Amino acid sequence: MKKGGQIVGGGLKDIYIREKSDSQMELGDLLVADGDNNDYTIIQVKDIEYRSQVPQLNLDLSAGMKLEGYGDNLEFVQPELRNYMVARAKSLLYVQKNDKSQYLIKSPKRPPSFFNSIRSINDDDLGFLKPEKAENSIYLGDIRSGSTVKKDVKVHIDLIKSLTHHIFIPATTGRGKSNLVRVMLWSILDSEGAGILVLDPHNEYYGDNVRKGLRDHPKMTEKLEYYSPDSENQDALTLSVNVKKIRPNHFSGIGGFSSAQSEAMRMFYNKYKENWISEIAKEKDNKTLKAMGIDEKTAKVLKRKIETKLGVSAIDDQSSPDDKKCVFKSNLFTGGDAGLSTINDIVESLEEGKIVIIDSSKLSDFEELFVGSIISSNIFFKYKNYNSDVLKNRPVISIVIEEAPRVLGREALESGMGNNIYGTIAREGRKFKLGLIAITQLASVIPRAILANMNTKIILGNEMSMERSAIIDSASQDLSDDNRIIASLDKGEAIVSSVFTRFAIPIYTPEFEKFVNEYLSKQGEKMEIEGETELIG
Ligand SMILES: Nc1ncnc2c1ncn2[C@@H]1O[C@H](COP(=O)(O)OP(=O)(O)OP(=O)(O)O)[C@@H](O)[C@H]1O
Ligand SMILES: [Mg+2]
Repeated sequence: MKKGGQIVGGGLKDIYIREKSDSQMELGDLLVADGDNNDYTIIQVKDIEYRSQVPQLNLDLSAGMKLEGYGDNLEFVQPELRNYMVARAKSLLYVQKNDKSQYLIKSPKRPPSFFNSIRSINDDDLGFLKPEKAENSIYLGDIRSGSTVKKDVKVHIDLIKSLTHHIFIPATTGRGKSNLVRVMLWSILDSEGAGILVLDPHNEYYGDNVRKGLRDHPKMTEKLEYYSPDSENQDALTLSVNVKKIRPNHFSGIGGFSSAQSEAMRMFYNKYKENWISEIAKEKDNKTLKAMGIDEKTAKVLKRKIETKLGVSAIDDQSSPDDKKCVFKSNLFTGGDAGLSTINDIVESLEEGKIVIIDSSKLSDFEELFVGSIISSNIFFKYKNYNSDVLKNRPVISIVIEEAPRVLGREALESGMGNNIYGTIAREGRKFKLGLIAITQLASVIPRAILANMNTKIILGNEMSMERSAIIDSASQDLSDDNRIIASLDKGEAIVSSVFTRFAIPIYTPEFEKFVNEYLSKQGEKMEIEGETELIG
């Protein structure tokens, strides 16, 4: 629908627009005020209110007469002139187009001319959003004006920049966070230069015979890997990690180990190297513990924790009575020769720019975060040790983590002994081409310093005012007027606020299933045409 109006007041801060009677303006609508020199200002509706030329007392009286049956056919003369809507809007962007149809974009420093008419935004007005190279970018969705989706204006963000500076996705449950990430990952499979580790606690990214997933992508064989601890899962590689590959620092800030226990772990590692976990399980006599400087009680607690958390315990060894042997109860952590290469394989795949999905739906919270910690720590120290020339040619690596406060929340960061690796990546990953895609329902429990480091926020609907405040306070653009807009976002509707975008862009992310069907049918058409050309040529 064509929307129109005229500027009747306000200024740079707020612009007041009288709405044309049939316009049906909506909260969040994008509108345009044209200038005289091939320039225009994009403005956005932040509020809408009634106005009337009829004094309030008269309005009250006529309403009363109508309600009480005194004047059934009481009507206003020229009602569309006397009663109308006024929208309060904000200037988002000032755009100039030169002779070569290039766009010059600036922050608005002047309001559009007074009494200027206002029109709906069209695709051409948003031409500057087109990425220079779609293959180096992530597709987030289509631009949205209020609730009208402009399917022809795709919104992309730069792949490398946005991933190294972290992406934060906050929303109330069910608003489409996972759907958005699925769409993003699909477009990353089409691009080059990024490896993504997905910790997937709901097993909702890979897909199966019923639901579409990343496995339906044409490049899945070259670029997608899927691990599951469930050995029955035919589609997945088996996720098993040999305890010899675990290091004491992998427990940093994860698993609730005290500083004495962490110290004891380091002592065990120093003495027994890669066998340190088995040696903790086998128990040491007091003399050995004393020589290592470990308290007997600490060793006992440690042994118990290793048993409950990793499923590693020791039993008497029948073949050599003085010795014990380890048993491994979990599906995930193994001994002997099993699972020795898993972590290396995953790290290598990430370094080759693949997406690696870990189905953690059958793992405990601890197991999921711990496996993530082992992989992330390996990548972190590897990338940290590369010199800048080597690092330049490595892909950026990002880690998708659901329910991010588990590792980035105030409590997790303050109570853990030492920083957990996710917090370390949030703070300093950027220097080493590492980033996070952090998903959460609760932004308010994440410290401001971390939120401020998340330089791209994709904000979906949120009913909780405390959450909205935390998000708005840490956004890259001034979203102080968007509180109500964020509260009213429907499924799939979002606002992208990033240091890499010129304004907070309203988008709609298509439903993954539909998006994939469309993508695949387009690809089918393309192949058909190419096939035909070949025949003719
Ligand atoms: N863009 C969209 N258009 C239409 N339906 C959508 C869209 N995005 C998500 N949905 C639907 O909404 C439901 C919830 O979506 P999704 O699982 O992505 O939400 P979520 O924010 O990840 O929720 P949770 O916090 O529970 O993980 C799904 O059934 C999905 O199909
Ligand atoms: Mg989800």
